[in-house]
Amino acid sequence: MAVGCFNPVLTPLVSAPPGRRLRSALLSRLPTASFHRLLACGSEGRGRWRLEAAAEPQAVQEQPARTEASDATSTAGGSEASSKLVLVVGGTGGVGQLVVASLLSRNIKSRLLLRDPEKASSLFGKQDENSLQVYKGDTRNPNDLDPQIFEGVTHVICCTGTTAFPSKRWDGDNTPERVDWDGIRNLVSALPQTIKRLVLVSSIGVTKYNEIPWSIMNLFGVLKYKKMGEDFVRNSGIPFTIIRPGRLTDGPYTSYDLNTLLKATAGERRAVVLGKGDQLVGEVSRLVVAEACIQALDIDSTERQIYEINSVKGEGPGTDPQKWEELFRSVQ
Ligand SMILES: NC(=O)c1ccc[n+]([C@@H]2O[C@H](COP(=O)([O-])OP(=O)(O)OC[C@H]3O[C@@H](n4cnc5c(N)ncnc54)[C@H](OP(=O)(O)O)[C@@H]3O)[C@@H](O)[C@H]2O)c1
Repeated sequence: MAVGCFNPVLTPLVSAPPGRRLRSALLSRLPTASFHRLLACGSEGRGRWRLEAAAEPQAVQEQPARTEASDATSTAGGSEASSKLVLVVGGTGGVGQLVVASLLSRNIKSRLLLRDPEKASSLFGKQDENSLQVYKGDTRNPNDLDPQIFEGVTHVICCTGTTAFPSKRWDGDNTPERVDWDGIRNLVSALPQTIKRLVLVSSIGVTKYNEIPWSIMNLFGVLKYKKMGEDFVRNSGIPFTIIRPGRLTDGPYTSYDLNTLLKATAGERRAVVLGKGDQLVGEVSRLVVAEACIQALDIDSTERQIYEINSVKGEGPGTDPQKWEELFRSVQ
């Protein structure tokens, strides 16, 4: 059943021109106030959730222009919007939030698999169930990954993760081993073979975790377990694309270990640098990573490929599928 859009992030998207819409979506701080309440459909625990607004939406702050997004005349997946159902795993994280906001702004149907569905409520507000569906689940628990979660799903973007070093986010044993290895293995094992593309966000340095300086980052195994997760994806038979970001900048800084230890700063990094063979070292905007994930879903040449990704100051491909296709091809 269609429900009117009442969302602090997305309301401005419906009235603005496409480029500006995306710019607003991606540049606006995703609101985190809990002014939406969540109604469970069915039983407690695992299962589908419905988002319902309970208060006034927050105003969206317009940020300085990011010209690539504004200039783009077309966006990935637009024409296929009705036929795609993208499962986003880790959709409340730094990259994941941007992926979800961007899918919503493109009218691409999304489904979220979250440990805490209430986070979706506060982040994305009230959404038409045909646009955004929320399921509760923890990737560490195979029993949470009920087949109904994957029914109808055509594409998957997985951007789960935890901190590289011990932190509160490890509470309840949510360590790199459990999230980046057990979680990925469980998720991939549960996916139907009909999935058209699985995009996994991993990390640069995963093939060099025994070498300085990567071995420092890998003290608690994060790079090793991410590599094991990658290998599982590669051997799964599911068409995949692996995106290995450099140090993440911009957007929500949820992973304090990497970002504050290495003193990340937000910047105007829109020009995309892609690499192969785990040679690239540097930083990348979360906005760029989110866009790369979405673009890869539709670009045939990215199938069964692994890319490292950085971004630097300058003009970038924005949301233009043709520019992304050329970029991906240039490192093939
Ligand atoms: N930070 C960096 O500089 C850096 C560099 C290279 C690569 N990476 C990788 O890039 C990816 C995206 O980074 P990010 O900063 O956007 O991540 P993030 O903000 O840490 O988000 C991680 C997401 O994973 C979810 N998650 C964690 N444990 C889970 C579990 N057991 N079951 C289901 N979901 C779970 C979190 O949900 P909850 O809300 O439930 O916790 C959250 O939505 C991660 O894989 C990260 O390791 C990061």
